[in-house]
Amino acid sequence: MTSVLSRPHLLSMQQLTNEQIFHLFQLADQMKNNLYLPVERQTFAANVFLEPSTRTKMSFQVAETRLGLETMNLDGESSSFTKGESLYDTLKTLESIGVEVAVVRQSEVGLLDQCKDLNLSLINAGDGCGEHPTQSLLDLYTIHEHFQHFEGLHVAIAGDLKHSRVARSNAHALRKLGAEVSFVTKPEWQDPTLTDRYITMDEAVHECDVLMLLRIQHERHTDSGEELGYLENYGLTKEREAMMHPNAIILHPAPVNRGVEIDSDLVESPKSRIFRQMTNGVTIRMAIIEALLKGEL
Ligand code: CP
Repeated sequence: MTSVLSRPHLLSMQQLTNEQIFHLFQLADQMKNNLYLPVERQTFAANVFLEPSTRTKMSFQVAETRLGLETMNLDGESSSFTKGESLYDTLKTLESIGVEVAVVRQSEVGLLDQCKDLNLSLINAGDGCGEHPTQSLLDLYTIHEHFQHFEGLHVAIAGDLKHSRVARSNAHALRKLGAEVSFVTKPEWQDPTLTDRYITMDEAVHECDVLMLLRIQHERHTDSGEELGYLENYGLTKEREAMMHPNAIILHPAPVNRGVEIDSDLVESPKSRIFRQMTNGVTIRMAIIEALLKGEL
């Protein structure tokens, strides 16, 4: 069953051209400098979060409010998901009552593809180990804010690659934008879909312009004892940070496991852009919603 009309969605980084990515950066710059006019008609946005979230959910709420949208929240525990209602029927319900934008986090890779014909704009806020395009866009925006370009940059992505939707979204987009991508991980966390160069953390800190750290996704696998020796073997210690290029930056989508993938003192160090990423998350999410409502994506 489909609607007569459907609206644009943001489901994957693979759908965006480089021109669309830079258009979103321009919009985000306007949002950052308050050079935008909030929408004048009443527009409803629903945040449907069926997996835990702090940053994505809260920053979408701030972004929607700053854009002048009416914002609503739905979770898995206090909604009719508990009665077995499907994601499609839930989103169809939101469409039927006039919601125009739905931000969805849930655990099944690609499930939102089955809802693409609905007449409301869907934003993938993380689908299991699949993709996290709004996180990727805020990461790219933060890199561009610092370097003003992507060509020739070396971005090392380090951590639990196999279970990371952020790594997947970023690796694809960074390659397309002209950056070199390499990976640091345990052999058992290598991902056959991520075929770029695998290097050690010691090589990464000497070579990279951007070190993108990832947390261990304990909720997606049952390996035990994986934090033992992780910082020394695969993480960013103070000794390794001292080897980085003077102009290099550290990113992390967060939440951060301080003392596991990064020494706690480095989380707020001069090279770290971890909290800047969160600030940029609001402006880039405002830009994404605005572009979807205007039919620009
Ligand atoms: N980076 C990120 O997606 O954080 P949350 O899970 O807190 O939303």
